Amino acid sequence: MSQPSPRAHRPATRVVDLGRPHRGDDAPVNPPITISSTYVGTGEVASGARAYGRYSNPTWDPFEDALARLEGADVPALLYGSGLAAIASALDLVAPGGTVVMPAHTYQGALLGAQETARTGRFDLVTVDIADTQDVIAAVRKAAEDTASLTHERPVLLWIESPTNPMLEVADLPTLVEAAKASGAFVVVDNTFATPLLQRPLEIGADVVVHSVTKYLAGHSDVVLGACVPAEAPVREGLLHHRSIQGAIAGPFEAWLGLRGLRTLALRVERSGDNALVLAERLEAHPAVRAIRYPGLRGDPGHERAAAQMDGFGAIISIDVGSTEAADQVVDHCELWTPATSLGGVESLLERRRRHTAEPETVPEGLIRLSVGIEDVEDLWDDIRAALDAVQA
Ligand SMILES: Cc1ncc(COP(=O)(O)O)c(C=O)c1O
Repeated sequence: MSQPSPRAHRPATRVVDLGRPHRGDDAPVNPPITISSTYVGTGEVASGARAYGRYSNPTWDPFEDALARLEGADVPALLYGSGLAAIASALDLVAPGGTVVMPAHTYQGALLGAQETARTGRFDLVTVDIADTQDVIAAVRKAAEDTASLTHERPVLLWIESPTNPMLEVADLPTLVEAAKASGAFVVVDNTFATPLLQRPLEIGADVVVHSVTKYLAGHSDVVLGACVPAEAPVREGLLHHRSIQGAIAGPFEAWLGLRGLRTLALRVERSGDNALVLAERLEAHPAVRAIRYPGLRGDPGHERAAAQMDGFGAIISIDVGSTEAADQVVDHCELWTPATSLGGVESLLERRRRHTAEPETVPEGLIRLSVGIEDVEDLWDDIRAALDAVQA
């Protein structure tokens, strides 16, 4: 990677400092955007060469470098045109005829993509309750036995998302990674909700982290972008080849926006997390809220695990208000919270998740996912309390 790693610096410094151009008289403070589809050259074009805009772009480099360092990887990350493109690329690492073990409540786009690929026969898909550690370990062991005759590397891929979207289940990351490795499985973790500031799965042995950069990393709901962060070079080679061939690349402006967003990640994660904890405690006590999931609440089933393995609890809360009608009423009543899908931006968003017809039926009809932003928490509370009061009345 291009720059010495200031590993001694704390994360809030590193998000500001990483990925800067080399210092020199009149050097820019920020990396420039390179708008070019091709690069001058006459020599042999080997893997990893600049050569053409589908293989690389200098605008990607500082962000790929910074993200890798934040996640604790030894090789640069890879940017993609969306989080789902990064996910598709990571899923393709499993051996042909292998098995993917995935949380039943993983982000629905990832689940749908895996289900559709499994139907083609490319791999077998087994879904698990990711919070049920023994169930997951048993599924991984069985998958290892079932694929024992495969000669291709990575016969079993354990996909982890923690906390899950939108049910906020918390996986026991260290135990699952250790057990999966002992069975020879390859481990991918979707770290979108936590960000590398709250959780670094590569440091405990995961092989690849994926991100919807669209969410917290970019942080302003103005760009769609994804990333794979492989721990080691051989896996990166495979992913780079796949990206170059499949073409799911990031635009230079989007990559630049992603790095620009990263600069304020620590402030945004801290503020939105603080807001989320205050709101979760108040929501829990509101009579219109039938159930709530937020790992920061002491009574939450994932609290102890999250406290042990995360440096904070994030800013996504799920509440169940009991029915489609009640949930729609709450969403419609809000004036400050914006009714929209997605999450991780500075502005607070909410939506009834089952409005997406692809959302699993095990997600309650009345579940509202709240993405808590960085506004004044009292304004957020006044707005959602009024909406809940109206349903209760
Ligand atoms: C946890 C998680 N992973 C991946 C994605 C997909 O990312 P993108 O929308 O950038 O393709 C999402 C999108 O909501 C998500 O919430």
